[in-house]
Amino acid sequence: PEDIETEIDKVLLTEEQISGKLREIARQIEADYEGRDLLLVAVLKGAVMVMADLARELQRHVELDFMAVSSYGKSTHSSGVVRIVKDLDADLTGRNVLIVEDIIDSGLTLQWLRQNLQSRNPASLEVCALLRKPEALKVEIDAKYVGFDIPNDFVVGYGLDYAERYRNLRSIAVLAPHVYS
Ligand code: PRP
Ligand code: MN
Ligand code: MG
Repeated sequence: PEDIETEIDKVLLTEEQISGKLREIARQIEADYEGRDLLLVAVLKGAVMVMADLARELQRHVELDFMAVSSYGKSTHSSGVVRIVKDLDADLTGRNVLIVEDIIDSGLTLQWLRQNLQSRNPASLEVCALLRKPEALKVEIDAKYVGFDIPNDFVVGYGLDYAERYRNLRSIAVLAPHVYS
């Protein structure tokens, strides 16, 4: 098998750091949404790990829903053109919706998603992102829960991919330049 170790420059966030942060966020969410319904919405595929672990950390009822969108590379993101491949099952009218994302990079995905979901008249709409790259932001994103602000490096793992690989790493790591150069 290929040796993934040689393709990783350094581990940025360990499994323990990630799970510890998700535990903290879960406690905040439990307090903030006490007595209210909660629907977690994740966009495939990057958000799957955060969704699975955050949902299991929450000691309350939640519903999970997923969306699949087609973005033809980052250029499509920048043009703002995103096509829904699989829409949510849930009707968002009057629901408390929390978007769960792996990373806010330029912010364009979430800007589009926020707008799209807001038009469906939820009772509330908030964002939870495990990672954010302050130096890469192109638009301002109001995110209620952010796990870690990270440098503008190419990171993979815990759902994040490079050419569809590395999503299954348990940690979040910086990819070695020889992999993509
Ligand atoms: C990645 C990531 C976020 C988005 C962030 O998704 O999972 O959804 O990019 O980038 P942005 O803030 O610049 O929009 P991607 O489009 O690569 O699809 P994936 O989740 O299937 O990897
Ligand atoms: Mn994504
Ligand atoms: Mg990706």
